Amino acid sequence: MMILWKFTTGARRHAAPWLLVLSLYLANRRGLASAPELRQPPGRIAIVGAGIGGAATAAFLRKEFGPQVQIDVFEGGKVGGRLDTAHFGGKDFETGGSVIHPLNLHMKQFIDDLGLAQRRTVPSRIGIFNGKELVFQESDWFIINFIKILWRYGLNFLRMQMWVEAILDKFMRIYQYQQYGYSFSSVERLFHSMARDEFLNMFNETLDQAMQKVGFSQQFMNEIVTPIMRVNYGQSIKMNAFVGAVSLAGTDSGLWAVEGGNKLVCSGLLYHSKAALIPANVTAIALKTRPVRAGGTVSLYEVSYSSEAGASHNLYDLVFIAAPLHQGKSNINFLNFNPPVPMWFPGRYHLTVSTLVHGLLNVSYFGVSEPASAFTVSEIVSMEHEELVVTSVSSLDPVTVSSEYKRPPASEANVWKVFSPAPLTQDQLQKIFLSWDSISETRWLAYPYYSPPHRFPPIVLHDRLYYLNGIEWAASAMEMSAIAARNLALLAHHHWYGLTDKIDQEDLNSRIRGEL
Ligand SMILES: Cc1cc2nc3c(=O)[nH]c(=O)nc-3n(C[C@H](O)[C@H](O)[C@H](O)COP(=O)(O)OP(=O)(O)OC[C@H]3O[C@@H](n4cnc5c(N)ncnc54)[C@H](O)[C@@H]3O)c2cc1C
Ligand SMILES: *[C@@H]1O[C@H](CO)[C@@H](O)[C@H](O)[C@H]1NC(C)=O
Ligand SMILES: *[C@@H]1O[C@H](CO)[C@@H](O)[C@H](O)[C@H]1NC(C)=O
Ligand SMILES: *[C@@H]1O[C@H](CO)[C@@H](O)[C@H](O)[C@H]1NC(C)=O
Repeated sequence: MMILWKFTTGARRHAAPWLLVLSLYLANRRGLASAPELRQPPGRIAIVGAGIGGAATAAFLRKEFGPQVQIDVFEGGKVGGRLDTAHFGGKDFETGGSVIHPLNLHMKQFIDDLGLAQRRTVPSRIGIFNGKELVFQESDWFIINFIKILWRYGLNFLRMQMWVEAILDKFMRIYQYQQYGYSFSSVERLFHSMARDEFLNMFNETLDQAMQKVGFSQQFMNEIVTPIMRVNYGQSIKMNAFVGAVSLAGTDSGLWAVEGGNKLVCSGLLYHSKAALIPANVTAIALKTRPVRAGGTVSLYEVSYSSEAGASHNLYDLVFIAAPLHQGKSNINFLNFNPPVPMWFPGRYHLTVSTLVHGLLNVSYFGVSEPASAFTVSEIVSMEHEELVVTSVSSLDPVTVSSEYKRPPASEANVWKVFSPAPLTQDQLQKIFLSWDSISETRWLAYPYYSPPHRFPPIVLHDRLYYLNGIEWAASAMEMSAIAARNLALLAHHHWYGLTDKIDQEDLNSRIRGEL
């Protein structure tokens, strides 16, 4: 994702309701323990997937259920999932999820708890490519950018930041609710709690519709908003308006990443939660009924899995699926459930190919006539254009940045990250680069292909069988997975102990204000 202009940050500083939320969150975060412990805690919990969602679930479940419960995390690929790095010329580079918003409070809390650091950010300069030339180039000078933007887009840019901020203010309410222990049994209810129908309506309309309705210009939609959607989600302004707003928030200042690589958060959370990592693919989850000594029956979940050591299975009280239940993303058979749980929900994931190239950029490809040594743009985003094979080309810093680090100029060999909707051919690469010495390609089924209106999958698949990744259909981001993890850990806890007054409560915003 990218950082765009930074000139409204001064204006954002005052009167922001999220500051109140933030200070409350920080002050209270260890305060409110939930639950009268009337019942025994569960014995065993399974989590399927060790991406940020699964790892965060392990950490939040440990907090909710205490030290006794056994937590097993199944991972058939790599810990980190869509957070991953490639080793390249002696250094590591992010190939998947890369930047984190300054108001992503769970991610912030994780790195603080784990003793990780934020990577030093190196300023970048944006260029907007229309398929022939750069229609806009950010300069080194704040005031020049300001005038250029005002000249070309009038007040659209400032208004966009205000529009996004108003949405973010309401979104920040979720942290307060979670701090007070409130949880929700569906994605719709979770979002309804923050902004009543406002967000639910945004899921059903396109970003284009939502922004045109309030008067943003067509030129601004094409030249600014479209490239931001393309670089962040590989898609267009036809995505739902909410994920569009999340994507626009990715132009705020203060974006950060984890020193050493974002995936360190996942391994760190697993380690600190004392979860057992089982390197295996879960193949089936079956509902089993067992008699209990006191009479009656109890239902348990039998998780079958296959690893290099062969096939096996275990019984669990609770199971969390922290991987998308979508074609190409997982293959889990759900057995004996009535109503049945499908292997895949409707909708598909978008292919985004991330190609890292260590080489020399052909600046003429972008219609630049000046010599490469004078070309200071480090991040090229693009408008929609039929013949364009790439969505963005950005100079990429390694995951560890020393204080002496300087990004090499475009006249020297450099690591570039190219996003495209299909793998790039040798021919295509030869047009974009003058030469290269190494290439690393990752094909991601990256995030949902957003085409509103879309119904959310359930997050409670059966009594104590939970599903995290339904939330990605609102917006896919690390913080969204962390919010879903916190919500499901709370929900599972409240279900287990029968604390119904902490589930699906209405009007939380005014009620919590009343309690203050
Ligand atoms: C190219 C790209 C760029 C992105 N940029 C950003 C960004 O800048 N900022 C941001 O916040 N987000 C970004 N995202 C989105 C972000 O990476 C994801 O939303 C987030 O990482 C999802 O985490 P998750 O744990 O929910 O899922 P995943 O990371 O997909 O984890 C699921 C895990 O489950 C495992 N699994 C699946 N099925 C099974 C099974 N049957 N048995 C065992 N294990 C199984 C998988 O191997 C995987 O490791 C980006 C994503 C991509 C691909
Ligand atoms: C959004 O669209 C879905 C699917 O068409 C529909 O079920 C839902 O009621 C709509 N929600 C709102 C708030 O309009
Ligand atoms: C899990 O399944 C994937 C895809 O089939 C495979 O590449 C991987 O090796 C499997 N992992 C394990 C631990 O068996
Ligand atoms: C660089 O790009 C220009 C413009 O697309 C093209 O004409 C030229 O052949 C490219 N250079 C190389 C060495 O491929």
